[in-house]
Amino acid sequence: MNVKKAGVIGAGTMGAQIAQAISQAGVPVVLMDIQEENVRLGLETVRKIYQSRVQKRKMKEADASQKTALVTGAMDYEGFGEMDMVIEAVFEEMDEKRKVFSALDAVCPPRTILATNTSSLSISAMASVTRRSKQVIGMHFFNPVYAMKLVEVIPGLDTSPQTVSDVVAFSERLGKTPIRVQEGPGFVVNRLLMPYLNEAALALQEGAASPKEMDEAMKAFGMPMGPFTLLDMIGIDIAEKVSLILYDAFGPRMSIAAVLSELVRAKRFGKKSGEGVYRYDGEKDERLAGILQKIRKETGIVGTQFAPERLLLLMINEAAICLQEGVATAGDLDLAMVTGTGFPQEKGGPLHYADQIGLDVVLSELQRYSAELGPRFWPAPILKRMVGAGYLGLKSKRGFFSY
Ligand SMILES: NC(=O)c1ccc[n+]([C@@H]2O[C@H](COP(=O)([O-])OP(=O)(O)OC[C@H]3O[C@@H](n4cnc5c(N)ncnc54)[C@H](O)[C@@H]3O)[C@@H](O)[C@H]2O)c1
Repeated sequence: MNVKKAGVIGAGTMGAQIAQAISQAGVPVVLMDIQEENVRLGLETVRKIYQSRVQKRKMKEADASQKTALVTGAMDYEGFGEMDMVIEAVFEEMDEKRKVFSALDAVCPPRTILATNTSSLSISAMASVTRRSKQVIGMHFFNPVYAMKLVEVIPGLDTSPQTVSDVVAFSERLGKTPIRVQEGPGFVVNRLLMPYLNEAALALQEGAASPKEMDEAMKAFGMPMGPFTLLDMIGIDIAEKVSLILYDAFGPRMSIAAVLSELVRAKRFGKKSGEGVYRYDGEKDERLAGILQKIRKETGIVGTQFAPERLLLLMINEAAICLQEGVATAGDLDLAMVTGTGFPQEKGGPLHYADQIGLDVVLSELQRYSAELGPRFWPAPILKRMVGAGYLGLKSKRGFFSY
């Protein structure tokens, strides 16, 4: 399908940026919100993104104003009878999203594809309130949209292959890297990233190292920023929400570190509230030590060791579990982590990295950590199977990939 006109529902953080990305590809887009002020702010965001591109000399002034004019605001569904594609980005609430999908189904022509930017909710459940579940799909963008290339493309139970290929093509037209992901909690990026971040939080509360030491170590590994800087940027409250969803789906291996919940309780949400794991007002932080002391007393777990592998092994293992479950291909799992989290490109992604370390080493390290720190490190069955068959990674010329 050649998308000639698109709509975005919800002019908040994501909606405005998605509308900007669509306009940049030359497609006229209507940015709709129920709050007049948010429509205004959304259009302002679009204008600012273009302005910054002009300032950085990435774009000519005339081109920027032409593209800015492609985005128009709306407070109702008038004009949605002409849409080829609509992307929903309202609050992360199923009832609200279902209301939107049912309204869109009534006003949009039969050809229109209805996509959702949900981070965690069931796409199939949204599709079920429409009469076009074949044309309903997940299209998960990452924040900030102008910088993040990844789009997780998530078919629901009924989504047709045609809709998938149309959305993949549309994402590519926006200059994105679309990756096809099976519908399931956390999709790929959040599912692999959260255990890594959570393990850093556990290491912190157990006194293994300071946030700064761990951030530095992961940057030395090649991550664009350390886990605590990232947690503060995402928002500890959002990270807690994602963790709870993952725990609900996968059980104890995704148990949330107490320190994250304690920080949320102390209203330390991260950068946006001026305080998270770090303080951003330049003052000395005396409260964090108190929070950590209290947790150590309650759990009795203290004095564990930190090594970058402690965090990375969980990401690798979850990637192996995803591969086992058919959530995505090995290549796409790696590409998702490189484009969606900045996993160092030269290491290729968690599965390529596992091949470099050696799958036998990954397996035995997971077993060692499992005995020491608990069953969240229990190796994915696929690892044992591969090692048993001589798939050891780079050194045996076959592992998750062949060499
Ligand atoms: N913020 C992120 O980093 C991020 C990243 C990926 C995905 N997401 C997902 O994107 C979606 C939007 O998140 P956000 O952070 O942009 O939210 P937000 O709170 O910034 O914006 C939501 C907007 O939707 C509007 N809205 C609510 N109900 C509406 C309705 N019925 N019709 C039209 N507009 C309505 C609100 O007025 C608000 O402007 C969520 O599903 C979220 O999970 C967010």
